[in-house]
Amino acid sequence: MEARALFLSAATLLFILFARARSAEVYIVYLGAVRNSSHDLLETHHNLLATVFDDVDAARESVLYSYSRFNAFAAKLEPHQATALEKMPGVVSVFESQVSYVQTTRSWEFLGLEDEQGNVPQNSLWSSTNYGQDIIVGVIDTGIWPESPSFDDSVFTPKPARWKGTCVGVPCNKKLIGAQYFLKGNEAQRGPIKPPEQRSPRDVAGHGTHVASTAAGMPVSGANKNGQASGVAKGGAPLARLAIYKVIWNEVVVDADLLAAIDAALTDGVDVINLSLGKKISTAPYFAYLQDALSIGGFHAVQAGVPVIVAGGNEGPAGYTVVNIAPWVLTVAASTVDRYISSYVVLGDNQVFSGVSWSRSSLPANRSYPLVYAADISAVSNITAATLCLPGTLNPAKAQGQIVLCRSGQNDGDDKGETVRRAGGAGMIMENPKNLRSEAKPSLPATHVGSKAAEAIYDYIQRTQSPVVSLTLGRTQLGYKPAPVMGSFSSRGPNTITPDILKPDVTAPGVQILAAWTGLKGSQFEFESGTSMASPHVTGVAALLRSLYPRNARNAWSVAAIMSAIMTTATIQDNEKSIIKDYNFRTATPFQFGNGHIVPNAAADPGLVYGAGAQDYAEFLCTTGYSSSTIQQVLGVAASCTTAIRRGCDLNRPSVAISNLRGQISVWRSVTFVGRSPATFQIYISEPPGVGVRANPSQLSFTSYGETAWFQLSFTVRQPSSDYSFGWFVWSDGIRQVRSSIAVQGISTASVAVE
Ligand SMILES: *[C@@H]1O[C@H](CO)[C@@H](O)[C@H](O)[C@H]1NC(C)=O
Ligand SMILES: *[C@@H]1O[C@H](CO)[C@@H](O)[C@H](O)[C@H]1NC(C)=O
Ligand SMILES: *[C@@H]1O[C@H](CO)[C@@H](O)[C@H](O)[C@H]1NC(C)=O
Ligand SMILES: *[C@@H]1O[C@H](CO)[C@@H](O)[C@H](O)[C@H]1NC(C)=O
Repeated sequence: MEARALFLSAATLLFILFARARSAEVYIVYLGAVRNSSHDLLETHHNLLATVFDDVDAARESVLYSYSRFNAFAAKLEPHQATALEKMPGVVSVFESQVSYVQTTRSWEFLGLEDEQGNVPQNSLWSSTNYGQDIIVGVIDTGIWPESPSFDDSVFTPKPARWKGTCVGVPCNKKLIGAQYFLKGNEAQRGPIKPPEQRSPRDVAGHGTHVASTAAGMPVSGANKNGQASGVAKGGAPLARLAIYKVIWNEVVVDADLLAAIDAALTDGVDVINLSLGKKISTAPYFAYLQDALSIGGFHAVQAGVPVIVAGGNEGPAGYTVVNIAPWVLTVAASTVDRYISSYVVLGDNQVFSGVSWSRSSLPANRSYPLVYAADISAVSNITAATLCLPGTLNPAKAQGQIVLCRSGQNDGDDKGETVRRAGGAGMIMENPKNLRSEAKPSLPATHVGSKAAEAIYDYIQRTQSPVVSLTLGRTQLGYKPAPVMGSFSSRGPNTITPDILKPDVTAPGVQILAAWTGLKGSQFEFESGTSMASPHVTGVAALLRSLYPRNARNAWSVAAIMSAIMTTATIQDNEKSIIKDYNFRTATPFQFGNGHIVPNAAADPGLVYGAGAQDYAEFLCTTGYSSSTIQQVLGVAASCTTAIRRGCDLNRPSVAISNLRGQISVWRSVTFVGRSPATFQIYISEPPGVGVRANPSQLSFTSYGETAWFQLSFTVRQPSSDYSFGWFVWSDGIRQVRSSIAVQGISTASVAVE
């Protein structure tokens, strides 16, 4: 019997393996032929495919997309057909279309669409300047709910004449100027979509609408009536236009569709692309740059002058988890803001204590609830465990409808809140002695108070017959310290493909971002955390910089210049003037925050920028093992791998990472002056422990805009270590600080003659 079962399962397994090996997959096929009109391209693709199909119709049917800017197509093929294609003349490379996932938090809960209210990020550049009217932000996500009041267009001028995009299946207007969807790859790879998904750009998940309204939503009057809203939505909404490209279906996007969306966005004329997708690094650790739709699409965006802002992923706190790490995209980590919700604890004897709340919900205003100490309603014999509100320690019969006071320690606030909620409690007061800015988002109304307050509340409970308490409605306040603090979930470096490129690039607010509230239900807060909450802030800055230095203007900035301005003006200090900490209150490193936390207003006047163009990025690819001809054929940019840079650290980026350093190395950087009046910059270096750093020259003078100067940095290992050590250097003219992070892994002092 057992043997038979075993036999059957082995047979089943074989069958599955066999079926799997034979099943058709979506492949992306790159061609070496010179791009011509898209009609010609389609013909070329069909003719090529016909050689591996029995009949022309089948060949035509297999094509999912002919990309207009990438000299490539996506098709559903049997593995043997893919192999045959790979050998055809003119075919550069053939690879399977990969799957990416939405980069939200692990606990993302999609918002109710009908309740969605416009809300404006606190980022002052969005709200305090009237820029952006002609900036078109491309959002590649789950689609859009166009009827949301956030996309009201009544104050908008007609859409820009240069806009070439379209609107398919949903109504657009002067604010929402484009909406398209890309589904063929997903269906070919994963089967037909199921309801409630719709074959249109309409957003049934909620994420895309949330993204779009966070980025560029109009203020909604309902939100302004709410006390919270007036504190946050200072002065007006962003006037950017939105172009929506739906590629995420049931939280998954396949490369073939993503590439099609980027292709369309660039052709349509978007100015900035915002993406919150990423491959799960845990499932597939290494992706070559030229086999990843995001990095290829990003490269073409760079060529078109369109910055691509990407989320670094939520796979932290482990190292080697950062995704979307091509040097030509800007990779964003997530950290806290100094904003918090203050909530007062009002006891029955009128004592008042101020606390902080990060709960998803709050209790009705001014309503009193019975108050108990967790130890007094223990369901277990170990009273200490109940005091801490460890799971299952509270007696539901006694907790029902009460507000429970829990002590700090052992488990986190989420867990304590969940214990109280499960026992039927109405809310929680949590002792929080360290002023710890937790990422906890308790599932029930909860207020954190300090130890002294917790003690006083405890006393009140002990000496009162029927203790009662009310928790006031939260009020948004600023000034919480320390901030920013890195999110524990925020993915970290080193870079898994090229450790000599420092990633992530910057950090931005992405922990417990007050994401939505309805003005309808009293006070209902929604906090969301994730690197994809962090990217809007950076996208906003990139959009501003693009509008200050437009693509076709004489003072046009390259994508590298925009990235550089954002990176070098970032700060590594928190609001207590120490280096940004991680969630455990240890000093964080550039593997967590890159060059630091963005400072939007400084980015408009960076002083110096580190420039790089498509050519530099193409030659950088030589260091990752691609040949000149592959690079030229895939990207259409000539790269001479014999004269190209030898290590990733030689790419002219505004940060320096050096892995496996033996002895000594020198790297070159060039900076371009983007100031108005003559200036002299001096370098200041903070050496990584165990590594000596010298700059030559140490002073640079500029007289006119656009002047470029070179400098050399030499790194010498003094104390070898297998760990990375971190430092920075800054060029300063007394006004502007142009800062770069350094990460060096100096493994031996033995000088080897490489240079
Ligand atoms: C593009 O196609 C046209 C006609 O199909 C042809 O005359 C022209 O030479 C082609 N250009 C290139 C660069 O191949
Ligand atoms: C709650 O009570 C305070 C003080 O009694 C009062 O000022 C406030 O308006 C009340 N709030 C609501 C929503 O009833
Ligand atoms: C009671 O629970 C606390 C907290 O979990 C634990 O530290 C302690 O060891 C427990 N005591 C006993 C006797 O199990
Ligand atoms: C960028 O994407 C993130 C994550 O989806 C979103 O929260 C943000 O609002 C977007 N920003 C813009 C400017 O589209």
